[in-house]
Amino acid sequence: MTSPISTEIRDGILIITSNNPPVNALGAAVRVGLDAAITELESNDAIQAAVIRCEGRTFFAGADITEFGKPPVEPLLPQLIDRIEASAKPVVAAIHGTALGGGLETALACHWRVAVPSAKLGVPEVKLGLLPGAGGTQRLPRVAGVELAAEMCATGNPISAKKAAEVGLVDQIAGEDRLLDDAIAFARTKIGTAPRRSRDLPVKGDPAFIDTFAAQNAKKFKGFDAPAANLACVRAAVEKPFDDGIAFERQEFMKLMFGSQSAAMRHIFFAERQAAKIDGIAEDIALRPVAKVGVIGAGTMGGGIAMNFLQAGIPVTIVEQAQDALDRGVGVIRKNYDASAAKGRFKPEQVEAMMGLLTPSLTLEDLADCDLIIEAVFENMDVKKDVFGKLDRIAKPGAILASNTSYLDVNEIATATGRAGDVLGLHFFSPANVMKLLEVVRGAETAPDVLATAMAVAKKIGKVAVVAGVCDGFIGNRMLKPRQIEAMKLLMEGATPAQIDKVHVDFGMPMGPFQMSDLAGVDIGWHRDPSRIENVRDALCAKGRWGQKTGKGFYDYDENRRPSPSAEVQEILDAFAAQAGTAKREISDAEIIERTIYPMVNEGALILEEGIAQRASDIDVVWIYGYGWPVYRGGPMFWADLEGADKILAGLEKHLAAFGPEFRLSTLLKDKAAAKGRFTRPA
Ligand code: 3HC
Ligand code: NAI
Repeated sequence: MTSPISTEIRDGILIITSNNPPVNALGAAVRVGLDAAITELESNDAIQAAVIRCEGRTFFAGADITEFGKPPVEPLLPQLIDRIEASAKPVVAAIHGTALGGGLETALACHWRVAVPSAKLGVPEVKLGLLPGAGGTQRLPRVAGVELAAEMCATGNPISAKKAAEVGLVDQIAGEDRLLDDAIAFARTKIGTAPRRSRDLPVKGDPAFIDTFAAQNAKKFKGFDAPAANLACVRAAVEKPFDDGIAFERQEFMKLMFGSQSAAMRHIFFAERQAAKIDGIAEDIALRPVAKVGVIGAGTMGGGIAMNFLQAGIPVTIVEQAQDALDRGVGVIRKNYDASAAKGRFKPEQVEAMMGLLTPSLTLEDLADCDLIIEAVFENMDVKKDVFGKLDRIAKPGAILASNTSYLDVNEIATATGRAGDVLGLHFFSPANVMKLLEVVRGAETAPDVLATAMAVAKKIGKVAVVAGVCDGFIGNRMLKPRQIEAMKLLMEGATPAQIDKVHVDFGMPMGPFQMSDLAGVDIGWHRDPSRIENVRDALCAKGRWGQKTGKGFYDYDENRRPSPSAEVQEILDAFAAQAGTAKREISDAEIIERTIYPMVNEGALILEEGIAQRASDIDVVWIYGYGWPVYRGGPMFWADLEGADKILAGLEKHLAAFGPEFRLSTLLKDKAAAKGRFTRPA
């Protein structure tokens, strides 16, 4: 096998080139090759300095994550990095693309760094539940200062080459197209100079910043192990000699590497990329062009959906049924953009450019030239079929016709057209301009190129797309349903909304089932007849308890939207429980998990056995990006694997009587439990 590392001597300068597509990850072959190149540098007297560079789209984007958890292969990255730094001859890193993680650590071991203006530098390990474990936490504070190092390590966010140059992380900005020449010229100026080793530099900056920064970000870091470990290592750089700091870094790195959080986060890294792949459809299938988009309905969802495309520079025609609704919808888009501009996210001229791409209209005929049309009208089959029937007559041949329905049967919607192959669901999540998830609902007749085009469009507008089959609620909302049903029953049996919500928030969810109801609106789908009271929700709605928007729902809200338990709600619950003859009892937090989260896993398993989701990791992606499932728990199916399918099954079987006759145990779950098998691949 040829090495991904090649060398060439140009006028006394050793040019070390890595060519390891797609991102020049520092896998074993790269490390072996780099190690040999350093030997060449040291042993050949004709060589006076070296430049390390990469072919392809980026400088080393980090350690090879696929090697994690497997037996280590020498030379290990920290050893290699020490060797580069120890070189008696000057070594210069030539950086383009993204120098990330182990890639930036390699650059930090080089004695000087040259980068193109478009380069980005960062240590994203924390996003994988890790820390820079090849000396990054010790060298970065010495080169860039404690403050920036703490921030970069704990957030994982990269910085621009310009910023890196300001703080001394980059020594020279090269011409965008002249990186190698400029790096060679730079290296030449260092011939004969003693190498500047990062490990020998004093730590710059104010260590007090670390605690302040941790306190400021306490909410963001809550539940995660890695940010604190990153900060502890940066603190060690201040307090300990270099070698002791490195030993501490190694110890902390190993703890994280073999912990469940990092396994979960690495699982999601790959799950997200895997989700883009559609089983049975070739990756190089010809896509349909999407240069112009139509959106029908300018309500809560339509407006947000339109914003995604405007931000990607794609013109949108938005159609409403009445002028006032149209004006309101367009007004909301403008208001959202103005608010973002006020926060500095957009320049005023960008807002004008985006608004300039928007054409408001009251006639569906104006969608005749659109390549993709997304319907976001009321959630009603007759209304949707009426719209699709009209679209069938209006839309140009080959246009993709999508529905944003949350629950309705996409196959039935497609029957309203004579082109079911062009129809699919594009289920955005609210707020549609913010939430990253897009469920792409594949109808029975949806053409492969339509599906593939939808996935590509999703990527273009910055969404994480997951393919789902047709069923009630697709992947996400279908799994939400058993959770809501059981949470409601638990209230009858003696739990309180606050107790159930707390269990979910402690688990890491952004909110619990009742906080979610109050935010979304308790009245969603309510029949709007205050005299017809058949369940708790009817009773709440009849009393105007519609959620946060009316100042009361499952909780009472003060003027700052702070919730407190409601005596009125408790009375309603007690009355319903008494009527049903349900005895109240003490409910443990463990039971709340078994009754509300285990059924979600069971539903996920049903979704898999029915082929609604392509793979277990897709379900995890849906829950991470659509519902805020804590990424350090890896999604419901990865979490189920950690718990063990046998434990989940036993937990569910305990409560079969409470679940009632409509509950169906998944055969797949039973099989996994019997075989002690997993839903997801081990990370
Ligand atoms: N190791 C192994 N594979 C990697 C990888 C890595 N570090 N980074 C990316 N890949 C793979 C992806 O899985 C994907 O594979 P696929 O095509 O089979 O799905 C392929 O490379 C392309 O990746 P993207 O689709 O993400 O490409 P983009 O161009 O959108 O993004 C990127 C490129 C910004 C480099 C992005 O891939 C990224 O953020 N990568 C991870 C960077 C990272 O986390 N580095 C730190 C690693 S941990 C470390 O270094 C530990 C050390 O401190 C000891
Ligand atoms: P909405 O009530 O806020 O907006 C619907 C808009 O469609 C209204 O402005 C209405 O005037 C317009 N409309 C109705 N019939 C029309 C027609 N024939 N032609 C043009 N415009 C028409 O509703 P919302 O919340 O935006 O929901 C829209 C769709 O998105 C529904 O199918 C819903 O299930 C789905 N959805 C809603 C989510 C949410 O959180 N609100 C989340 C995901 C999907």
